[in-house]
Parts: sequence; structure tokens; C-alpha cells
Amino acid sequence: MQLLQILAFLAALLSSLPHCRAAEAVATCAGIVPMRWRREVVSITEFGAVGDGKTLNTWSFHKAIYRIQHLRKRGGTLLYIPPGVWLTGSFDLTSHMTLYLARGAVIKAAQDIWNWPLVDPLPSYGRGRELPGSRYRSFILGNGIRDVIITGENGTIDGQGDVWWNEWRQRTLLHTRPNLLELMNSRDVLVSNVVFLNSPFWNVHPVYCSNVVIKHVTVLAPSDSPNTDGIDPDSSSNVCIEDSFVATGDDLVAVKSGWDEYGIAYGRPSSGITVRRLTGSSPFSGIAIGSETSGGVENVLVENINLYDVGIGIHIKTNVGRGGYIRNITISDVNMNNVRKAIRIAGDVGDHPDENFDPNAVPTVDGVTIKNVWGEEVEQPGSIEGIKNSPFTRVCLSNVKLWGVGASPWKCTDVTGAALGVNPGPCPQLTSSFAMSYCSNDF
Ligand SMILES: *[C@@H]1O[C@H](CO)[C@@H](O)[C@H](O)[C@H]1NC(C)=O
Ligand SMILES: *[C@@H]1O[C@H](CO)[C@@H](O)[C@H](O)[C@H]1NC(C)=O
Repeated sequence: MQLLQILAFLAALLSSLPHCRAAEAVATCAGIVPMRWRREVVSITEFGAVGDGKTLNTWSFHKAIYRIQHLRKRGGTLLYIPPGVWLTGSFDLTSHMTLYLARGAVIKAAQDIWNWPLVDPLPSYGRGRELPGSRYRSFILGNGIRDVIITGENGTIDGQGDVWWNEWRQRTLLHTRPNLLELMNSRDVLVSNVVFLNSPFWNVHPVYCSNVVIKHVTVLAPSDSPNTDGIDPDSSSNVCIEDSFVATGDDLVAVKSGWDEYGIAYGRPSSGITVRRLTGSSPFSGIAIGSETSGGVENVLVENINLYDVGIGIHIKTNVGRGGYIRNITISDVNMNNVRKAIRIAGDVGDHPDENFDPNAVPTVDGVTIKNVWGEEVEQPGSIEGIKNSPFTRVCLSNVKLWGVGASPWKCTDVTGAALGVNPGPCPQLTSSFAMSYCSNDF
């Protein structure tokens, strides 16, 4: 078909759908990082890789990236990963490239855990997240890069995390486990149509980044795999996550910004974070903010979320010693099924990097709106427990309907705010009042 015919066909199709008019177009991340077509395509096989699942291809990946970086072509280069199982050690990405996984392509992390390279801890954490000192470098790492796309036909990036999880269970690890994909100090990154499988630790970790789009991804790890967070935007701005499925052993999405005195000193907030049309399941949190929020977290929009079999549906967590702020957070249109606790906002989650945290570094939580929540098989509605000398302010619950709760009430301390249409009835700290302009159902 000619382009014009296709356009005419699409226009006719759209106008024939009663509920799908252009004016009602759904919000998307489109426009933040465009999909780019690369002028040049190279295949990993040109660098000697063998996709038999046995050959170790680390050298091929390093050569391919080196080639893309040093013989840079205008318009960038697409690195094609054909169907097959491509075993490799960790490797870097470079700017102006697309990593393209064909249908049936699996990039599989080698399990040589005792030879895995070490890198410095993140400055905003001061140490590895789970053990002091350095940390294992991420399996796929993009540091200081821009204009990068990871996409394809739903191919898989497999971290083979079970050896790492077992070392963690046996307490034999010497350093913090690697992430599956980490983007550091990078911008204009698009991740779409890939499956992240069995990360040793957090799955996708954009840290100190801006303009990052993650969409149409699947993130999977067993529900008993330790610390396998799905997607953790960390000290990053303008991050948009949408149309994805995440089922892991820890928080599905957790917005962070550094840990206690190290995060305060680094001072890089997370802001402009959007999460929409995400479905998933976790024994821990569905949508989380924190607990590491020392650089501040603001301007977060989360909408159209489906959670099933989760520990805590919506979880905002911080601690004395964290400092920083959590403000202007809107979470709306959330369905939950089989949840231990629907909503928790907590100022006492514990867990400090060391003894040098400042007990006077008290975080603030202000302007959190949670609206249009429908929960079934909910064990406890929730708790909002602020900090004595720094109560949470302007917390708004609007149209929150939770069922299957039994007699268990909300639990609130050190919080002010408003509640409208909350079932079971909210705690008295949240004044039911239409006069609270920041808490109404029509914005
Ligand atoms: C991508 O792979 C995941 C995991 O195998 C699967 O659940 C999902 O349906 C796939 N999506 C597409 C569009 O093929
Ligand atoms: C609050 O955050 C939203 C994004 O959720 C943003 O559009 C809005 O401008 C922010 N408001 C302020 C006052 O910064």
C-alpha cells in the first residue's frame, strides 16, 4: 500500500471506532525520546559471536561496542542480535547505538560470579547497596552516553540470577550484586519491547539520567528472588515508564534518589517521573517511592496501574536520617487484587548505610494525592505514619474503595490531609472536607 492509502485507512479505522477519537488520544511517553532508524546495521555474528548458549561471547560484544564507538557512523549504528542464545560477560553500551534483539534472541549473562568486575559504589549511596565497599558492575551498563535505544522483537536479556540469589541466601557474597541494566549519567535513552529476566539484583536502574523512556517491557523474576526490583528511576529526571508488565521478588517500580548523608551530599533529585499502564505482582510493593530519597523526589505521576498478589500496593517510604523531600506525588486509577496492605506511607523504614547518618536530617512528605483506587481481597487498608517533628502534610485520599478488609482500620499518626469517598472510612487525621482544594475528585 502507498503511504497515503495507509493513512486514509487508519483515519477511517479511527473514525469508525466510537470510543477512539483523536481528541481523546491516550497519554503516552511519545516525544521524550524518539525511535530512530540507524543508518548502519552490524550483527554480533560479524564479531565472531556464536549463539549456541555455550560459547562465551564477551570478547565479541566488547569488539562490537568498540567498533561502534570508534568508527562512528552518522545516524548511528544498530547492533543486531539474531535469534539464538548469546552467552556473555558484562558489557558497556555506547552513544548513538541501538541494541536490537530479534525474536528468539537471548543475551544471557555468564555466571562467573567470582570473576565479575567490580566498580565504585554510587556516590549518592556511599557504598554498595547491600554490602559496604565496591559493587559488581551491572551486566549491561551505559555510563555517560546519549541517544541509545534497546529494542527489538521482545528478545530477552537474561541475568541468570539464581547463582547470585543463592550466594545471597548463603551469605557468602563479598560485594553488592549487579543490576541487569544500569544507565548512569546518560540521556535520551529508549528501552522498549524487550524482556528482562532473572536479574541478580535490581533489573533496570537509570541513575543520574534524564530523558529516559521505558515502554512495552516485561520484567520477570521469581517472587522469592531477593531484591529483584523491576524498574528503579534513581536521581533522574524526565523518566517515563508505560505499557509494561513486571512480576518480580521485590518492588515493581521504586523511585529513589540516594541514601542518607551520601544522597544529601550528592543532592540530585528524581523529578518528572511518569508511570502508566503497568501491570504486575510482587510480595513487596507495587508502586514505591523510596526508601532512598535523600536527594528529593518530586513531580511524580502514576496512573492506570493493575496490581495483583502484592504485599503493599502503594508504598511511600522514608526515614529519619534520609533528609530530602517527597512532594507533589499523584497516584491515580489503581486496581488491586489480593493485597496485604493497600496503602502505606511510612517515615520509619530503618536501614542506614552506616552510623554516620544525621539524626537531624528529617525528610518532609508534602502533597501526596492517591485517588481512584479499587481494591479487592485487601487484608488491611493501610497506614500513614509520619515523623514526630515533621508530620506528613497535604496527604489526600480520594475515591479509595477497598473491599475484604474485615475490621482492620486505617492507622495514622503525624499526618494532616483530607479524605473524600474513602472506604473503609479513613482515620480522623485526614479531615473529610470538600474545602480542601488540593483534595478533590475533579482534577
Ligand atoms: C513478550 O514476552 C513476554 C514474556 O515471555 C510475554 O509475556 C509477552 O506476551 C511478550 N509480548 C509480545 C508482544 O510478544
Ligand atoms: C506536580 O507534578 C506534575 C506531574 O505529576 C506536574 O505536571 C506539575 O507541574 C507539578 N506541579 C508543580 C507545582 O510543580
